[in-house]
Order: sequence, then C-alpha cells, then structure tokens
Amino acid sequence: MAVELARACDLSVCVDHVEQINALGTAADAAGVRLRVLTEIDIGQTRCGVTSQDDLLVLVAAINRYPSLRFGGLQAFNGKIQHEAAFGPRKSAAMVAIDLVASYLRCLEARGIAVETVTGGGTGTAEFDVTSGVYTEIQPGSYVIMDRHYGASEWSGAVTPRHSLKVATTVMSTHPSGRAVLDVGLKGLTLDSGLPALSGVAAEQAQVMRVNDEHSVIEGQPGLFRLGDQVMVIPGHCDPTVNLYDEIVGVRNGVVESVWPVDARGLSR
Ligand SMILES: Cc1ncc(COP(=O)(O)O)c(C=O)c1O
Repeated sequence: MAVELARACDLSVCVDHVEQINALGTAADAAGVRLRVLTEIDIGQTRCGVTSQDDLLVLVAAINRYPSLRFGGLQAFNGKIQHEAAFGPRKSAAMVAIDLVASYLRCLEARGIAVETVTGGGTGTAEFDVTSGVYTEIQPGSYVIMDRHYGASEWSGAVTPRHSLKVATTVMSTHPSGRAVLDVGLKGLTLDSGLPALSGVAAEQAQVMRVNDEHSVIEGQPGLFRLGDQVMVIPGHCDPTVNLYDEIVGVRNGVVESVWPVDARGLSR
C-alpha cells in the first residue's frame, strides 16, 4: 500500500524494526518508487519506537541498504504527556522528551548522518515543541476541534484552543425532578476520556450524569429543559467521536456554511 501511495504523493513511512525496512525496501525496489523513511524513537509513550541510540543506528544502516529508501529523519511523539492537565508539569514533561530527542540527534550528527525532519508533538505540547529548536514539524490534531478532556487542561501559554466540535442532540424525555434525556449515547459519543460536557448556557445550569447506548441522562433545575430542545454536547474525546459520523456540519453565527464528509469513516481494516 505504501508503494502504491508513493506513486501519487510525497510519502514518508515510520519504522521501528528492521523487518519493516526490509519489506518496504523490497517492495519499493521492485516497484521503482522512492520512499522516505522516518525512524521512530520512543520518547516516553511506550508504544512504538526504539529505546536506544544503538538500535536507531541499526535502523538507519538498514534503510541505507536499499536504493529505493531514503532516511528522512525521526518520528518522536509522546502522547502520554499531551493530556497532562497542569501547565507547569506538562511543560516540564515536554522538556524532558525534547532533551531525549536532542540526544538522539547528537548521536546521528556525530556520525555525519543528516536529519532532514524531526516530527512529533500534539495539542498539549505543541507550543513547547515549536520553540524547542529540535522539531522541524509538529503534529497537533485535536486543537482544531477540541474535546472536553483537552478543554479541562490548563492553557496559560501561547496556545489556548477553543471548542468547535459539538454533537447536536435533542431532548427526548423530561422529568419533574430536572432530569432530561438526550437522544445521543455511546453510539454517537466515545467515553474513553470521560463523560461529555454540555455546551453554552446549559453547561452552567446542568450536567451530564451518565451515557447509555442511545441516551444521555442530564440533570439541571426543574423545568430547565423542554421536550424537543436542542442541546449541544462537547464529546469527551474528539478523534474517535468524529469517526462515528458521516458528515460534519460547519456552522458560523447560527448559519450552516458547509457540510464536510468524513471520508475516512469506517475504513478501519
Ligand atoms: C503519532 C500522533 N501524532 C499526533 C497526534 C495528534 O495528537 P492530538 O490530537 O492530541 O493533537 C496523535 C494522536 O493520537 C498521534 O498518535
């Protein structure tokens, strides 16, 4: 697949094992395409990536064995620190990760290995990564639309992302106690990062108590919600929630300006 894509665009592929390089190199050599390969280093995520300079050098040497492959630089992403809520500890953790990236860079530079790209960073650490002088590219995604989990973080630096992603729901049941039920549940919201939040005026007067398959139960002052009311809900985690919908409706000042298809929805294989 990478080889097919490389015919159509300038593609970089991340690797952290020699077997991946061998598979890519063999396929790219045979297809006559050139691939840019980024070696992934583990800077605290404990997901993908090598954990030593020696292992990194093994990968770079393996890439250089294939005429079709070109060492493009480092992939260095630490997702664990993105959601550290407090600004100071998040900044400190980002600096530790950045220092680690810098040590890998020094190792490569000492051997005369040119590093074109150093890519990483997410919404939580982008402002520190940008000013680090280490990264040449950053990868934040959630900041564009945001979610409740990121929204609960302390943003006292140069970056203060705002919520734009909301799920439009309708009140489908009310109770004299102040309880109301929205027509969205787990099939339209993900809960891996906690409960969603209400948006706008409703957020000050009511809160989400629980989410079931097709319903969300909210509680506020008696009489606050009426049947048919539209209530905007901020998802707990934006990435997997977007994947639950066919379209995103773009609204500005209450007017629908665009409808964007979610092209990659359901393409997990
Ligand atoms: C490798 C990588 N880069 C960037 C991101 C984007 O992070 P965020 O949406 O928190 O900005 C992710 C998110 O999962 C990721 O896995």
